[in-house]
Amino acid sequence: MKHDIGNGRIVDVLPDIKTKRKLIADVTASLKHSEDPFFLVDLGDIIIKYHTWKELFPRVHPFYAVKCNTDHTVIKLLADLGASFDCASKIEIKTILNLGVSPSRIIYANPCKQESFIRYAAKHNVNTMPFDNEAELCKIKQFFPEARLVLRILPPGNFKVQVRVGDKFGCDPKNAANLLTKAKELGLNVVGICFHIGSGVEKAEAYASAVEHAYYVFELGREMGFKFELLDVGGGFPGVENTTLTFREIADVLNTALDKYFPEGAGVKIIAEPGRYFVASAFTLAVNVIAKRMAPQDKPDCDDGQEMLASPNSEPGYMYYVNDGLFGSFGNLLFDHDTVQPRVVRDCVDETMFTSTIWGPTCCGVDLIVEDYRLPELHVGDWLFFENMGAYSVCLSTSFNGMPHPWCYLHCTEQSWYHLYSVQK
Ligand SMILES: Cc1ncc(COP(=O)(O)O)c(C=O)c1O
Repeated sequence: MKHDIGNGRIVDVLPDIKTKRKLIADVTASLKHSEDPFFLVDLGDIIIKYHTWKELFPRVHPFYAVKCNTDHTVIKLLADLGASFDCASKIEIKTILNLGVSPSRIIYANPCKQESFIRYAAKHNVNTMPFDNEAELCKIKQFFPEARLVLRILPPGNFKVQVRVGDKFGCDPKNAANLLTKAKELGLNVVGICFHIGSGVEKAEAYASAVEHAYYVFELGREMGFKFELLDVGGGFPGVENTTLTFREIADVLNTALDKYFPEGAGVKIIAEPGRYFVASAFTLAVNVIAKRMAPQDKPDCDDGQEMLASPNSEPGYMYYVNDGLFGSFGNLLFDHDTVQPRVVRDCVDETMFTSTIWGPTCCGVDLIVEDYRLPELHVGDWLFFENMGAYSVCLSTSFNGMPHPWCYLHCTEQSWYHLYSVQK
């Protein structure tokens, strides 16, 4: 059954769960001669993620980090599910307000804001926003003195993360007193503390430790006469399976810390800013092999001009060129330090495997997706797919070299779709 959800978007509501491989095979067969790349977007996956969040974090309200994936259907779905939103710019705020979402469901979660954006937030009553420096306080005093401010503190530095943010944002908790004194002088309303520990953290204790730091700054703020009532635990929650640290493990550790330092009934609202958690696994990218070459057996050695073997055992290898790449949907490889695994759509059980390299479609030499990966021999016209492509992918894509963006095939199981929409419509 097809559902028109407006904005030119159609959702294929399917009676049964199909494997991604089967779905892509069905879609590509129905396309006839089109070879354009596309995303398979499983809206049911996002619905399940939302319910899992509510189950594992009953006290933590999610503000979806819009930057992570701004697809209209995704944000509309999350709005319908009841999520709130973390916006970082005027355009993101506008996009969410245009969905009819109340400004109270938005946090303008950028600690360093452009003046005109602050004015826009003030005009539209988006009043909760972080700060981590004095200049920001002065701007806010000038353009939005009634704002509800949240002091962003640095995450503890002793935990390894894949994507660090502490170099750019966050005040050292040791300097919190100075900033709070300045806020007091300016007569500003500071209502709580936030942090973002970064993404891809290896130990859940990083969250617990950040909560403990936040607690001490809370105590300080209250002693200084502020009415603190908000704790924002940021983002970084994994959105795919098979991570070293699972979402459930983080929930266990974080909930324990919250119950210890910010127990229920203590008058503190707890929110988070998950991005990748909601969208990463919902998007699967299908790309077409548009060209193929044998990998060169000999590569010139850059240092001394001597020739050297491409692979130690001289096994023949292939290079494939597909129609999306680093400047398109694979920006996550560059900016999010991700890695991807190509999968072949057609059945290739028992076929001989070869060392393969996959390049993007542009003329740029850095447009490399995967190197030295074992694949069966592919042919021009074959389809490959890459799972877990929903986070920091679509939103980073450029039109470099005039390459088109993938279109989206939206799908959902009947069970998930009607669970949400039969109640509402
Ligand atoms: C302030 C803030 N909140 C939330 C997020 C979302 O992080 P993630 O997608 O890892 O959950 C980010 C990402 O950079 C961020 O900077």
